[in-house]
Amino acid sequence: MNAQRRPLIAGNWKMFNGGPRACDLAAEVAAGVASLDRVDVVLCPPFTALAAVAAELDGHRVELGAQNLHPRASGAFTGEVSGPMLAECGARWVIVGHSERRHQFGETDELVAAKASAALDARLLPIVCVGETLAERTEGHTLPVVRHQIEAVLPMLERARGQAVVAYEPVWAIGTGHNATTEQVQEVHAMIRGQIARLSAELALHTRILYGGSVKADNAATLIGCPDVDGALVGGASLDARQFLAIARAAQTT
Ligand code: PGA
Repeated sequence: MNAQRRPLIAGNWKMFNGGPRACDLAAEVAAGVASLDRVDVVLCPPFTALAAVAAELDGHRVELGAQNLHPRASGAFTGEVSGPMLAECGARWVIVGHSERRHQFGETDELVAAKASAALDARLLPIVCVGETLAERTEGHTLPVVRHQIEAVLPMLERARGQAVVAYEPVWAIGTGHNATTEQVQEVHAMIRGQIARLSAELALHTRILYGGSVKADNAATLIGCPDVDGALVGGASLDARQFLAIARAAQTT
């Protein structure tokens, strides 16, 4: 953490809680966050729950995010949802390039960059996910892989002037219970910040870089304690209000 950057905790609900449970969970989180004033909190439910959760969060400090968007604003793209539609539902954030999208839906660095810039066009703030697979780490390719993923979104990061967020999520740590060591995390986060700094030192100072991958209440403080970690993107633990709030509390006291 660095005093220049406010911690951010984002909950990625993935394909869970698309119905009535979404409002209950959002209400529990909003009630808990009311007493936390030094951390930003974002909830990213499935598309079907966005409008209902937006209504639930109205008047609370918790912001709404989506999990994906199409790079075009409108058109004949059956089954897709655009940035302007998400904004109309009350979303302010959108996750882009999650590893499940990259690996299960074939999203390339170029498509991720197009989606991130479409998010800005719709006045949404992207949370751009990057991260290496286990094979890439084992072969010693972590830094070049992540550098290439970041390279694709540098123009978007510059355009967002420190408002967009990067999330480093090693693929092998997502949903596995194996989170990266603080040394592994700090090494990649420092490289990402250095890469942004080559564009602008000011931009690097203000851009928040989250860690994601098996973040839980009991490891959050240690991970967020790394100098270049500014919060967390939380999957599994975001489905439990008590766990998620404990992570948010850890972020504001770290
Ligand atoms: P996890 O997921 O916390 O369940 O590992 C993180 C993510 O996919 O963003």
